[in-house]
Amino acid sequence: MTSSLRMLNLCLGFAISCAAQSVHPVGNIFKPQATPAESVYHLSLLVMAVCAAIFLVVAGLLTFTIVRFRRRREDDGHEPAQVYGSNRIEVAWTVIPVLIVLVLTMATARVVIAIQNKRAPTGALQVTVIGHQWWWEIRYEGLRIVTANELHVPVSTASKPALTFLKLESADVAHSFWVPQLSGKTDLIPNRTNTMWIDPRQEGTFLGNCAEYCGMQHANMLLRVVVQSPEDFEKWTAAQRLDATSDSHVEAARAMFLSLSCVNCHTVSGTSASGTFGPDLSHLMSRANLGSGVIPNTSENLRAWVKDPQEIKPGNLMPNMQLNARELDEVVAYLSSLK
Ligand code: CUA
Repeated sequence: MTSSLRMLNLCLGFAISCAAQSVHPVGNIFKPQATPAESVYHLSLLVMAVCAAIFLVVAGLLTFTIVRFRRRREDDGHEPAQVYGSNRIEVAWTVIPVLIVLVLTMATARVVIAIQNKRAPTGALQVTVIGHQWWWEIRYEGLRIVTANELHVPVSTASKPALTFLKLESADVAHSFWVPQLSGKTDLIPNRTNTMWIDPRQEGTFLGNCAEYCGMQHANMLLRVVVQSPEDFEKWTAAQRLDATSDSHVEAARAMFLSLSCVNCHTVSGTSASGTFGPDLSHLMSRANLGSGVIPNTSENLRAWVKDPQEIKPGNLMPNMQLNARELDEVVAYLSSLK
C-alpha cells in the first residue's frame, strides 16, 4: 500500500471509530448534588461575582474615558495636561487588589480545609480507587468487592446521611478523579494516597472522567458513579460479593477462557484466573460499559472488544489476542455469563 493510501485508510478508520463512540455529557458544575461540589459551587459564585464587579468597573471607566475624552473637532491638536504620579491613586490601586486577592484566598482556603479535614464518621463506606492507563480499579476493602469504572454508592439523605470516603492511588502515571456534580477534582498520584469524599443526594448515574492528561486514551478514561437507594446498594453489594457464576451451561466456555492467557491479566473470582493487571471480570455483565466507558456493554460490542480492543480503543494495554472464531465464541459466551 502506498503511504497516501495508508493515510487515507487511517483517517477513515479514525472517522469510523469516532462515529461509533457515543456522546458523554459531562455533569453540570452548576447543579451540584453533593456537599463538596456544593461548597465549590458557592465559592465559584463568589469568585465570579467579584470578577464581574471588577470587569464592570474597569470596562465602565474605560468606556466613560473613551467617550468623554475622545478627540473633538474643536480640539486644536494640543496634548492634554500630562500628570505624573499620584500617591493617592497608586495606594488605591495597590491596596484594593491586595484586599480582593486576600478575600478570595481566605474564602478558598476555608472551602479547601472544610472539605479536606472532614473525618470519616463510623460506618462510612470506604473505597479505594486506583487509576490505571486507562481505566479505574475500584476496591471496597471492607466488603471484599473489586470492580472497575463504575463506582456504586448509597444515596445520602438528611435522615440517613451516607458518606463515601475515597482513597485515590495510581498504578502508573498521574490521573485525576472528577465527577463534576459530586466534588472537585482530586489527583491520583503514583506512590501517594490522596483522599476525597462524596455524599450524593440524588439517585442516578453521575458521569465523570479523568481530568489529568495521562496518555493516548486519557479522553476515554470515563467514570460513572451510580448512586442507589440503601436497599439497591445492599443488593448490589450482595451480588458483587458472590463468586463468579459457575453455570454448567458454560463449562466448556469457561475451560477455554481459563486456558487462554486472559487469566494473566484478569481475575474471575472462584476460578484460577487471578491476574490484576486489567479489570476484574467476575461480574462484568453488571457494568453498563466496556473499556472504561468507551462503548456500551452489549453482546455485539463485547464480541468486537474481545476480537480486537485496539480497534475500539487504540493504544490500550489489552492486546489483540488473535483468537480464532471458536475461541472468540467461547470467550464471549463465558464473559456473557458473568452477571
Ligand atoms: Cu487518566 Cu487522564
